[in-house]
Amino acid sequence: MPPRKKTVTKTAKKAAVKSTSSRATAKKKAKAKAKKTPKQKKRRGILITFEGSEGSGKTTQISRISTLFENAGLDVVCTREPGGTDVGEEIRHLLKHASPNTKITPEAELLLFAASRAQLVREVIAPALDKGKIILCDRFLDSTTVYQGVGRQISAEPVHIINAFAVGNIMPDITIVLDIPAQTGFARIKHRTTDLPDRMEGETIDFYHKVREGYLLLAKALPERFIVVDGKRSRKWIEDKLWNELRERIG
Ligand SMILES: Nc1ncnc2c1ncn2[C@@H]1O[C@H](COP(=O)(O)OP(=O)(O)OP(=O)(O)O)[C@@H](O)[C@H]1O
Ligand SMILES: [Mg+2]
Repeated sequence: MPPRKKTVTKTAKKAAVKSTSSRATAKKKAKAKAKKTPKQKKRRGILITFEGSEGSGKTTQISRISTLFENAGLDVVCTREPGGTDVGEEIRHLLKHASPNTKITPEAELLLFAASRAQLVREVIAPALDKGKIILCDRFLDSTTVYQGVGRQISAEPVHIINAFAVGNIMPDITIVLDIPAQTGFARIKHRTTDLPDRMEGETIDFYHKVREGYLLLAKALPERFIVVDGKRSRKWIEDKLWNELRERIG
């Protein structure tokens, strides 16, 4: 029995040495990988989306914030939804200015917004993120959650699935909600001159109350992504507030 024991001990020792040495090699490899990763990984940009109902000041603030980023020496891409690509702009025109007789169903509307988004993500947003740029996007997937989900009352599940399919692995890093009462927004944009009626602007005040509530609920559920700002304040006050918040979050 003793020799057998010896053999076992020897074998066990050998195995232990082997496993220690292979563990040591694995450790070395992991260490080398960890060291290499930050250098090899491309700097990812930042996707900041702007949300809020009509006339809340999204376009105004995107223009101001993009200037601030540019002055800080950063590369900024401004884009919008629906739109931002040739295909997306065609979809935008269809969605915003379809004649009242066209009667786009809520389901078709949801898919058209998603199609525009899918194109924008792959043609503009993902490549810009890979280049480390800051992207300021006028509306994104939360608009669909709120307008088609809460406003048009399509159930949450298809909205979520279609949104997820459209964006793939691209989610906003930060989402800004400019919060204003629907009436204030409408008062701001009623002087807009356009030869075409805008479908969304033709909605009832009740629809926009739901939209506002929908945004606030989303922001409450995801405070780490959302920044809600009082859109009734002056343009400059909002700009300063946003810039401070963004600098705090981006560093
Ligand atoms: N804080 C503000 N106070 C008063 N007026 C504002 C403020 N911000 C923007 N405006 C004005 O309100 C109007 C609507 O602003 P803006 O176009 O930026 O809103 P929006 O959210 O982009 O609207 P939409 O959803 O229709 O594109 C513009 O005439 C703009 O100059
Ligand atoms: Mg706008």
